[in-house]
Amino acid sequence: MHPHHDIDYGTPRREAEQTVTLEIDGVAVTVPAGTSVMRAAVEAGVHVPKLCATDSLEPFGSCRLCLVEIEGRRGYPASCTTPAEPGMKVRTQTGKLAEIRRGVMELYISDHPLDCLTCPTNGNCELQDMAGAVGLREVRYGDDGASHLDAVKDQSNPYFEYDPSKCIVCNRCVRACEETQGTFALTISGRGFESRVTAGQGESFMESDCVSCGACVQACPTATLTETSLIRMGQPEHSVVTTCAYCGVGCAFKAEMKGNEVVRMVPYKDGQANEGHACVKGRFAWGYATHQDRMLKPMIRASIQDPWREVSWEEAIGYAAAQFRRIQQKHGRDAVGGIVSSRCTNEEGYLVQKLVRAAFGNNNVDTCARVCHSPTGYGLKQTLGESAGTQTFRSVERSDVILVIGANPTDGHPVFGSRLKKRLRAGARLIVIDPRRIDLVRSPHVRADYHLQLRPGSNVAVLTAMAHVIVTEGLLAEDFIAERCESRAFGLWREFVARPENSPEAMAEVTGVPAEQLRGAARLYATGGNAAIYYGLGVTEHAQGSTAVMAIANLAMATGNIGREGVGVNPLRGQNNVQGSCDIGSFPHELPGYRHVSDSTTRGLFEQAWNVEISPEPGLRIPNMFEAALGGSFKGLYCQGEDIVQSDPNTQHVAEALSSMECIVVQDIFLNETAKYAHVFLPGSSFLEKDGTFTNAERRISRVRKVMPPRAGYADWEVTMLLSNALGYPMDYRHPSEIMDEIARLTPTFAGVSYAKLDELGSIQWPCNAQAPAGTPIMHVDTFVRGKGKFIITQFVPTEEKVNRRFPLILTTGRILSQYNVGAQTRRTDNVRWHDEDRLEIHPHDAQERGIADGDWVGIVSRAGETVLRALVSERMQPGVVYTTFHFPESGANVITTDNSDWATNCPEYKVTAVQVLPVAQPSEWQRRYRDFHDEQLRLLRAANGVAQDEKAEAGHAGL
Ligand code: SF4
Ligand code: SF4
Ligand code: SF4
Ligand code: FES
Repeated sequence: MHPHHDIDYGTPRREAEQTVTLEIDGVAVTVPAGTSVMRAAVEAGVHVPKLCATDSLEPFGSCRLCLVEIEGRRGYPASCTTPAEPGMKVRTQTGKLAEIRRGVMELYISDHPLDCLTCPTNGNCELQDMAGAVGLREVRYGDDGASHLDAVKDQSNPYFEYDPSKCIVCNRCVRACEETQGTFALTISGRGFESRVTAGQGESFMESDCVSCGACVQACPTATLTETSLIRMGQPEHSVVTTCAYCGVGCAFKAEMKGNEVVRMVPYKDGQANEGHACVKGRFAWGYATHQDRMLKPMIRASIQDPWREVSWEEAIGYAAAQFRRIQQKHGRDAVGGIVSSRCTNEEGYLVQKLVRAAFGNNNVDTCARVCHSPTGYGLKQTLGESAGTQTFRSVERSDVILVIGANPTDGHPVFGSRLKKRLRAGARLIVIDPRRIDLVRSPHVRADYHLQLRPGSNVAVLTAMAHVIVTEGLLAEDFIAERCESRAFGLWREFVARPENSPEAMAEVTGVPAEQLRGAARLYATGGNAAIYYGLGVTEHAQGSTAVMAIANLAMATGNIGREGVGVNPLRGQNNVQGSCDIGSFPHELPGYRHVSDSTTRGLFEQAWNVEISPEPGLRIPNMFEAALGGSFKGLYCQGEDIVQSDPNTQHVAEALSSMECIVVQDIFLNETAKYAHVFLPGSSFLEKDGTFTNAERRISRVRKVMPPRAGYADWEVTMLLSNALGYPMDYRHPSEIMDEIARLTPTFAGVSYAKLDELGSIQWPCNAQAPAGTPIMHVDTFVRGKGKFIITQFVPTEEKVNRRFPLILTTGRILSQYNVGAQTRRTDNVRWHDEDRLEIHPHDAQERGIADGDWVGIVSRAGETVLRALVSERMQPGVVYTTFHFPESGANVITTDNSDWATNCPEYKVTAVQVLPVAQPSEWQRRYRDFHDEQLRLLRAANGVAQDEKAEAGHAGL
């Protein structure tokens, strides 16, 4: 299937109860009221020529190609801007219309280069198609008149190019940037013949506000805006629908291919999570998959001081298995464990936890959700009964009030961010609770009604104070609560939050939020209509992360904002498959489907299916693994696709723990930070190289489809199988679909899921079973999953991480649009053009006090460690709070973060670290050691394979 051959209905679908019946070229057609004549015509099988219309954008009516005749009306109305009306008789093909259309095309073509044969979009150009469709045969205007043929190209963006000579000023790009993306970076400047598309104030695309989402490129009907990869490689010859491997939005893409090579990624119009939109990562940053740093050969070594030795798969797997068995014989069954990656597929995660439980014989398995959304799992399970978000993304279109807390969707979840902004532009109200002034607070045509700029670490105080206002001002949804929630727990909670010490006035001191603002926000949330909460790691990664999640669920229950469209509690998941990795049993205490290992019935089920005995004891969590390693009782680790050294807090502690172990097996696509401590390296496969599924933040299971063979020979699930077989526990799957069948057989919420059904429905939101054969878009509709909803008391307890004279500032962390987490992928793409180093954001006041200017090197010291970054002086910060991203290993952001963690789940408290910031002249001691160790490890790698490593890409800041 080629994108070119997808049906374009010309104007967006309208949803209306009323329908309209009209006649087009003699064919009767019935459409929802508000549908354009153009779209109705397509429904009737008639394609009216068009240029400025496309069904992802509101009609504009500028090209005049889509004119039609309507009985009883004068003139020739544009079919894209004319709504269908009952009884209309439309004619789309008459001699007169043909003549007008040819005239229009002639004008366009006379000012268009006639280089079709060498044009990159040759064969996939709407202008070319339309010239054919209207039967254009000659162009009467000579080439002596004024034209734009020598206009200069803008090649500033690494991923697409703008060639104004080919622009027909159809405005589709401008509308795409406004309507779809919500960035408003483009305008049509000049009038009439002089008019042209410009980015920003006549700047280049790179200098403008453009965020390189590519929506304009996709919308452009000509070769004016074109992907550089397409220019380089030519038109694709086949395409495969798959799912983005970056964030938890889970956008569907068509990978457009030439043989085994990706030509471009085009967001899939029928993708239910993204509906044809994408961000700079998913659409453009896929080049890492073929980067020269990819590790393609298995390697082993006895100690991390030894050079790596390239070996066969057989030898590497055999060596790893022998080491694990040796360790278990010497140090006991529990001395080894595994880590499931939230980057890998459900099927792969399932196999890793199965290997740990069945082949290792313990429950020492955990996943990186530990360090991000484990409090979500815990908090939502306690209150609502299910460890997942309650809505579809589309549900936001029905929200009247949107509360965003501890999340930065325009950077972290950009495609959902665009959707959110669209709803806000249409009139929904917005409450932002965040220490920083994130973009949502003020962006084009979006203004937050409230920005509660709280002190990091005071979420629970703010949320409980909001509940106080709702309870004491009589804003409770009494009927909902009486019918749907446990009354005793509610009574206790009501009494608790109503206490004066939980009032906004009393809490203002710790939260830093003026009481009146907080009251206003609470009133708006409770009374503004459908209210939805979206939250992220700014809620979970705290000492009271689980408490804050429960406080959020309490608010939703207290106001009846749960169980229908437009409302709900929605964690924005970080990694592509963090929801899935939790679902399929990667926690040490839970079998797939969140069922406790101590539950003998569930265990019995798995024991029978797997033909082994499963330990009833919960295993070690990631931080406990480190503790046990330092204590000498944990010696072997199978780590699939996760970089714990860079992503877990207190790097030095993690490194020390790993250094004390005897066999670390790292399976990854790059020699990541953790691999520098490894003894066995097993090359991984990227999402382009395997089949499987990812589950996004909406509980949506989507297919990942192989578009090229695994570069190192095996997909990750095959490698786990090899290892299990070598350990003596047989696994024999021929295709990931068989693994999904096993998951479905053993997990009630997945009972109805199969690859066949996924192919049929496109994607499925779990639970999917006999009661919900097509899945469950909205949860807790009539009752809560746990029966009655349970209010839980959320006593604010300040974190132990306190500021004092030595550490007077609070450091909090986050992500940026163009980079992704530890950056292993995005750093190996042109996305570094937007962000090539992590910086420390600091308020001008704090900067000035310390004599720090923008761009200066500053040392950041915490109780855990010290690192050096460059300063970015910014009013987005509040005084007393500094901020950084953590995309570059040499930044060492996690050298500073501490061992503090959520009381319930051990999720690290990344978001609050007391620090001091001072001007410095040189890298930190840690950074110097890091550099030496890094260089040494690269040397040991080169010894193995002589592969040219791109040292420049690895070396990071020249200035350090
Ligand atoms: S790439 Fe996206 S943000 Fe940039 S101009 Fe195009 S639509 Fe706007
Ligand atoms: S750049 Fe493309 S989409 Fe934008 S106005 Fe020109 S032809 Fe239309
Ligand atoms: S929003 Fe997330 S899933 Fe969608 S393209 Fe961007 S990174 Fe990929
Ligand atoms: S397509 Fe209707 S005016 Fe351009």
